[in-house]
Amino acid sequence: MPITIAHLTDVHLGPVEGFGPRYWSVKRAAGYYNWMRHRRLDHQRGVLDRLLADLAAQRPDHIVVTGDLVNIGLPQEHINALAWLEALGPPGRVSVIPGNHDIYAPIGRDPGTRRWAAYMASDAEGAAFVREASDFPFVRVLGGVALIGVNSAVPTPPLMAWGRVGEDQLARLAAALDALGQARLFRLVLIHHPPLSGQASYVRGLKDAAALQAVLTRHGAELVIHGHNHRSMLAWADGPSGRFPVVGTPSASLGRRHRHEPLGRYNLLRIDAARRRVDLMGRGLAEPSGAVVELERRILAPKA
Ligand SMILES: [Fe+2]
Ligand SMILES: [Fe+2]
Repeated sequence: MPITIAHLTDVHLGPVEGFGPRYWSVKRAAGYYNWMRHRRLDHQRGVLDRLLADLAAQRPDHIVVTGDLVNIGLPQEHINALAWLEALGPPGRVSVIPGNHDIYAPIGRDPGTRRWAAYMASDAEGAAFVREASDFPFVRVLGGVALIGVNSAVPTPPLMAWGRVGEDQLARLAAALDALGQARLFRLVLIHHPPLSGQASYVRGLKDAAALQAVLTRHGAELVIHGHNHRSMLAWADGPSGRFPVVGTPSASLGRRHRHEPLGRYNLLRIDAARRRVDLMGRGLAEPSGAVVELERRILAPKA
């Protein structure tokens, strides 16, 4: 039985609330200015709600949100995003990983994105594939598909949006990919930043993309999905038994075009795990005030 997963990302929920002196930093001040001046006009809750109504009608088995739920990483934003997640679905139906706007700048003793832990944790079946007790990567198993949630978000200096997976997490990821591959599960890796070298600029990209790519090439994956670039992307990476696709999805909340960023969109991934085949369907807005329509449809099959 194929599994259908809806992928939405970079929802950048507003409003930005709770920006008091306690959480003031140059980074957040710059981000707050950018949000108030520009981004709150781009990322529209009404657009997101229309996409979610369409998504519900598609009846996916599971929903994945790959980060940038919020904007300047404030506790009140995390609290508001948790309420949004709870409305989206229970933790068993929704998986989340953080983005650079969620883990944005130091936050003291506040739990931050750990408020979303129920949505970012291994399930009972997946936990067996993670050897060490740690937050990331987490593993969830849906039929023949394993979701592997990687955290690439780290606090960064002002105007920087880079990410880093880190050596320890990379080692745990390598072990999990091996174990899941031995179990013949379809390995779907979730990460906020584009995972391959050269897929984002120096100030926005993954610092250890080369190391991550080496882990994927050596230990294997069947599909990687990401956000961060706010655009539709498709690349192929080398794995031990052929090439696998790497798919980036635009923001699900964009209500007006911003530079190269298209209007709100989400992807549906219908995964036939046994045949290693993915039917990708993009749905979203072609016009700001138009209906949610099919924007793309393609088959992603592994290449030898
Ligand atoms: Fe984003
Ligand atoms: Fe991002």
